[in-house]
Amino acid sequence: MPNLKLIVAEIGQDITLAKTLIDQGHLIGLPTETVYGLAGNALNEEAILKIYSIKNRPKFNPLIAHTDSLEKVEKLVLELPDSSIKLAEKFWPGPLTLLLRKRPSVPDLLTSGLDRVAVRIPNHPLTQQLLYALDDPLAAPSANPFGYVSPTNAQHVNDHLGDKIPYILDGGSCAVGLESTIVGFEDGKTIIYRLGGTNIEAIENVIGKVEIHVNMSAHPAAPGMLKSHYSPGRKMIVGNIENNLGLLDPEATGIISFNKKYDVPVKNSAILSKSKNLNEAARNIFPALRQMDQPQIRIVLSEYLPEEGLGKAINDRLRRAAI
Ligand code: TXA
Ligand code: MG
Repeated sequence: MPNLKLIVAEIGQDITLAKTLIDQGHLIGLPTETVYGLAGNALNEEAILKIYSIKNRPKFNPLIAHTDSLEKVEKLVLELPDSSIKLAEKFWPGPLTLLLRKRPSVPDLLTSGLDRVAVRIPNHPLTQQLLYALDDPLAAPSANPFGYVSPTNAQHVNDHLGDKIPYILDGGSCAVGLESTIVGFEDGKTIIYRLGGTNIEAIENVIGKVEIHVNMSAHPAAPGMLKSHYSPGRKMIVGNIENNLGLLDPEATGIISFNKKYDVPVKNSAILSKSKNLNEAARNIFPALRQMDQPQIRIVLSEYLPEEGLGKAINDRLRRAAI
């Protein structure tokens, strides 16, 4: 058992320890294929309150419940619309979150008082072992302070939250690198609320046309996506890198480009995918934003990627990081 007063969290792969800590109401960092989560028992109100408090997250922004089987999902929700079953069969375990009508036993604190609960079966072997061992689901938002860039390895979690949690399960770097796609069902329609690691094209191949309601407002009427997010703590401009760079001091400028190299110091430069592969770019986007958080960098320039496949979700993150 690690000393709970350590300044940084212990990092390891001990599922038994992780389970013990969760069962005692503590929070841990844990890997998923999308991003690392800050996890606690989703049915324990004290654990949920700790999540909001450690992340400094407003309580009107609800949390996702993670579990490892459709049987366990059924214990949380009142019904599974046909489309939700088709999507679950195709994409779970994976980067897809479904909004489903919640049972009364699911705490209102988890859903911010909404009548739907967000559920997801993540695809990471360590976390699946832990979820299998646990009776209850895990509430797990991305393990970053509210508004900051999401973590994609254990060290990222330790950098920002290590003094607030006892343990981080280390599952290496995230294979997808972007949060899950969030999907809900209203009046027979399927609605995408957050672009993420499962492509719209792939979803439409399974259930036909969907509507996209991605929130870009600073004060969303319904909780969902807040406008400004993923911020590297620098002013950021997304557009034509070449033109903007001409007006700036390269020493004080960070660049996140798709595949081209620009004339700035190496430590100021992040190339998302030399071969223009959007899946590789998705794995690199959050580390790139994080890399820009260096004292000498005063402004960050980036560019939009092709609006196809994961490019749409990457562009969404760039747009929000620049607000
Ligand atoms: O990939 C992911 O989804 C990661 C990993 C750790 O699983 N988790 C994640 O959680 O991104 P978080 O809390 O950073 O983002 C969850 C999003 C928020 O925008 C929240 O508003 C929305 O899901 N959400 C959760 N429950 C909701 C609900 N009942 N109704 C509407 N939106 C909901
Ligand atoms: Mg988040």
